[in-house]
Parts: sequence; C-alpha cells; structure tokens
Amino acid sequence: MSRAALALISLAAAALIAGLTVSIAAAPIVVAATPLAIVQAPAAHAYTGPGSCAAAACHGSIRPVPGSAILQTEYTTWIAQDRHARAAEVLSQPLSVRMAKILGLAAANSAPKCLGCHTLDAPAATQGRTFASEGVSCEACHGPASAWLGPHTTKTWTHAQSVQAGMFDTKDLVKRTEICLTCHLGTADKFVDHEMIAAGHPDLVFDLEAFSAAMPRHWRPVTEADPFAPVRSFIVGQLVHLRGSMERLARRAAAPAWPEYAELDCFACHHSLTRAEDSWRQRDADGARRPGDPALNVARWVTARHVLAAQDAKAATELSEVMAALERDASRRRPNDGQIAALTTRARSILDLAIARAITAKPEAATAARLLRAIAADAEDIATRGERAAEQAAMAMETLYLATAASDTALRPAFDELFQQFKNPSAYDPRRFVAQVKKIDAALPR
Ligand code: HEC
Ligand code: HEC
Ligand code: HEC
Ligand code: HEC
Repeated sequence: MSRAALALISLAAAALIAGLTVSIAAAPIVVAATPLAIVQAPAAHAYTGPGSCAAAACHGSIRPVPGSAILQTEYTTWIAQDRHARAAEVLSQPLSVRMAKILGLAAANSAPKCLGCHTLDAPAATQGRTFASEGVSCEACHGPASAWLGPHTTKTWTHAQSVQAGMFDTKDLVKRTEICLTCHLGTADKFVDHEMIAAGHPDLVFDLEAFSAAMPRHWRPVTEADPFAPVRSFIVGQLVHLRGSMERLARRAAAPAWPEYAELDCFACHHSLTRAEDSWRQRDADGARRPGDPALNVARWVTARHVLAAQDAKAATELSEVMAALERDASRRRPNDGQIAALTTRARSILDLAIARAITAKPEAATAARLLRAIAADAEDIATRGERAAEQAAMAMETLYLATAASDTALRPAFDELFQQFKNPSAYDPRRFVAQVKKIDAALPR
C-alpha cells in the first residue's frame, strides 16, 4: 500500500479513536494533497488489540461451544499454547539481549528490526483506544478489527462482509500462506539474513501444514464437506512458499550485498571436515558447480517439485530446467548480471498458474499417499541437496502421513528417529537420511 493511502487510513482511524462515530465507509474522504493521494478511504481500519476478542462468550471459552460455527476457544488456545503469544517476551530474553549487543541495537524489545515480526506492529495512528501489543496477536493475522469487531458478532453478518471491512482473508489459502510468510520467510522491510543468524537468530524454516498443526490450530481443519482440506493446504502451501522464496532470492540477488549467505546451503560452509574419501558433497556434485563453491539452498524446491509434478508433469519439467539453471548461476560467486532475476521471473510465472489450479483442485486420500510415496522414492536425490532439503522433505512426509492416516500412529517412532538426524545439522549424513526414509517407506500401508 502506498504511504499516502496508509496516511489516509491513519487519519480515518484517528477520527474513530477520537470517538467520532461517523461512518467513514458511507462518506468516502478524498484527499488531494498530491496526485498520488487521491484515494478513497474504504473504512477506518484500526487495531483493537487481543483483549477485545478474549471474552468467554466470544473467543475465550475454555471448551468448544456446542452448536457454534466456530470453536470459540481461539483466544484460550492462543494465550495458553501458541508461541505467537510469547513472541514479544522472547525479545527480552538473554538470547535476544545478546543478539542486540552483537548487532549494535540499543535493545531488542524496542528495535524496529525485531518488532516487525515479534509483535502486532501497528503504526501509532492505526492503534485503537483498546490497543495493546501482546506478541503476534489476533490482528497480526486477521487484520485490523475496528470496522468489523462489532458487526461480526451478529448472526446475519458474513465472512465476506468482514473482509470488506478490513478483515484479512485467512480462509483463502494463498493469502493465508502469504501472511505467515511475511514473518516466516520475510519481506523487503522485515527480514532475517545471515548477519542476524550469525548473531543468534534461528534460521527461518516453514511449511504451512506442519506449522499450522504446531501452532496449534485454533480452528477446525476438516469439515464433512472437505475431509482432505489439510492436503490442499499442504499443496498450496508448498507452491506459495516456493514462489515466495523465488521472490526473496530475486530481491537479495539484486542487492549490493549479494551473495546473501542465508540463500545458500548453510552446511556447504558449516559442516565439519572429513577425510577426503569420506566426503559425499564433492562426490555427489553433478559437475555443474565448481568444487568449493557453495550451493543454492533448494530446500523449498525438492518437495514442491513433486507437488507440481502430480498436477502437471510438463510444468514440473519446465520448472526443473529453470531451477537447474538457477542453481548453476546462484552458486557462482559472481552470477551473470540479470540472470537470477530472469530465471526467478520464469519460475514465478509457472508457479502462478500452478497455484491458481491448486486452489480449486479436489485432493483425496490417494493424492496424499501418492505424494508421500513420490517424495520417499526421491530420498537419494533429496539427501544430497543438503540438510535443509532433507529436513523440509521430512516435514512434508510427516504431514502427508498424518493426512492419510490421522488416527494411525504406528510410524511415530520412525519419524521421531528421522527428525533426530537434524538435531546436529553440521553432522548431517545423507546415507542415514536415506536409510531412515526407506524404513518409513517400507512400513507405509500399501
Ligand atoms: C522476518 C521476521 C523476523 C524478524 C525481523 C525477527 N524475527 Fe525473531 N523470529 C522470527 C520467527 C518466524 C521465529 C520463529 C522461528 C522458528 O522457530 O521457526 C523467530 C524466533 C526468534 C527467537 C527464538 C525464540 C525461541 O522461542 O526460541 C529469538 C530469540 C528471536 N527470534 C529474536 C529476534 C530478535 C532479537 C530480532 C531483531 C534483531 C528478531 N528476532 C527479528 C521472525 C523474525
Ligand atoms: C499466526 C496467525 C494467527 C493468529 C495470531 C490468530 N489467528 Fe485465528 N486463524 C488463523 C488461521 C490461518 C485460521 C484458519 C483460517 C480461517 O478460518 O480463517 C484462523 C481461524 C480463526 C477462527 C475461525 C474462523 C472460522 O470461520 O472458522 C477464529 C474465530 C479465529 N481464528 C480467531 C482468532 C483470535 C480470537 C485470535 C487471537 C486470540 C487469533 N485468531 C489469532 C491465523 C491466526
Ligand atoms: C507477525 C509475524 C508472524 C506471522 C504473521 C506469523 N508468525 Fe509464526 N511466528 C512468529 C514469531 C516471531 C515466532 C517465534 C515466537 C517465539 O518463539 O516465541 C513464530 C513462531 C511460530 C511457530 C512456532 C515455531 C517453533 O519452532 O515452534 C509456529 C508453528 C508458527 N509460528 C506458525 C505460523 C503460521 C502457521 C502462520 C500463518 C498462519 C504464522 N506463524 C504467522 C511470527 C509470525
Ligand atoms: C558461504 C558460506 C556460508 C554460508 C552458505 C552460511 N554461512 Fe553461516 N557463517 C559463515 C561464516 C564465514 C561465518 C562467520 C564465522 C566466524 O565469525 O568465525 C558464519 C557464521 C555463522 C553463525 C555463527 C557461528 C558462531 O559460532 O558464531 C551461524 C549460527 C551461522 N553462520 C549459521 C548459518 C546458517 C543457518 C546458514 C544458512 C541459512 C549459514 N550460516 C550459511 C559462512 C557461511
């Protein structure tokens, strides 16, 4: 959104905060300060803070309310179990204090560099009277509530009306993934780069389904009408995540600070040295990369390519060629000018189409089982693409397993063992990864 539009919304919000009950939506304001500023204010979108959702009769119930369209326990789940509720507190803990010192910030818990992702970071002028920033709270994902808070509690009010009034449409899987990625992948304005990682920040890893389950979800993932909704959300999440990572790569490759180490395979640099004859990295390099040059991190591609192949084999082949060229170019210490931008643009246009199709596709149990098999069968190649690729594939396989056999926990221990391998990532060994995936594959119900 343009600065002008933001300023205008702020103005409208300020009017509301001041207690004026004029309906701004009904009387659009037009400001003509500069030609750019000629915009109509849709409504006052102010942030009200999580307290306004917390009442037991609203979203703060202890138990799901029978007969209600929603659980009504959303606030309870968030405050008691969701790490987002603690995201601001984290900024006062020793690790953050240490990071701030290393990065030369006055204090992590007041640095814009940190607040953007660890709080509901609403500009002052969009803060309503009741506003409180308590970590990543409801409106960080659901959008500013001032214009829909009252009416959305009435029976006849629809989700579409809320969206019209400024609610962020988290029901749209593409938008849902994108809102997560603003913090879990980063944007041009808020990001986690290698400098921050070296100072102590965790590397950003994400998978929509796995992370939604881990939040944990405060909504019902499955309905009678759509029993395989988690499979669709996995598929859409994979494709949108890959598209987002292409955008981030393009952005970083265009910056003077390239190479940005956080785009490369972390353990190309951070592994321990072995005897030359035990080294698998150079042995398994396909010749496209000069020995000693760090490879691009393709973790978001190695599983997404199976998702794409299941939908459209031709598109998958086309994207494979683009990605191979991208890997060649991005691992060069001095990439060809404009080449990364051109390749990521091609990748994005293939993904745009795939995402549009994935939203309307009707996945079923067989879809998940087939995807799980395809990823498992590809373990040998995935394994050599580095620790992060193996970790992303493991997350995907577990998610698909749970989607196909939600009540069957027979393979739990085998997956736990697989995840154990990522505890010390510098010691990651592709042979162990392949062996464990084969064990899981063999135990899958046929
Ligand atoms: C682009 C968004 C983003 C920015 C900017 C950001 N963080 Fe984070 N931070 C995250 C996410 C997402 C996680 C959770 C990572 C995970 O577990 O997958 C996280 C996790 C952390 C953790 C680990 C928390 C825990 O519970 O173990 C610390 C500490 C932290 N961040 C501190 C900071 C500090 C200090 C800054 C500013 C210098 C900062 N972050 C900036 C997104 C961000
Ligand atoms: C990290 C992002 C995030 C945060 C924070 C968050 N939500 Fe959600 N919420 C979602 C997503 C994603 C969904 C599932 C999609 C949907 O139904 O809109 C959802 C679903 C819901 C639903 C169910 C909607 C329906 O029609 O089924 C309610 C109600 C809700 N959230 C309320 C809250 C409240 C109240 C808070 C704060 C206490 C909150 N959410 C915090 C992301 C979030
Ligand atoms: C405004 C930024 C923001 C948004 C939007 C956001 N997150 Fe987060 N998320 C964070 C931060 C910061 C943390 C780290 C909190 C901590 O460790 O205390 C985090 C942590 C998590 C964790 C815990 C990770 C772990 O290692 O245990 C999960 C799971 C998660 N987020 C899922 C999601 C999902 C799913 C969405 C979208 C529906 C989402 N997040 C949207 C900022 C965000
Ligand atoms: C091109 C090589 C390269 C890549 C790729 C790379 N790093 Fe680094 N990393 C370095 C160097 C060099 C340092 C600085 C070491 C020092 O200060 O002694 C460093 C420092 C670090 C540190 C601080 C270590 C310490 O003991 O202080 C961490 C943590 C880290 N990197 C994590 C990562 C992660 C996670 C990734 C992938 C997202 C990554 N690195 C990718 C080269 C790399």
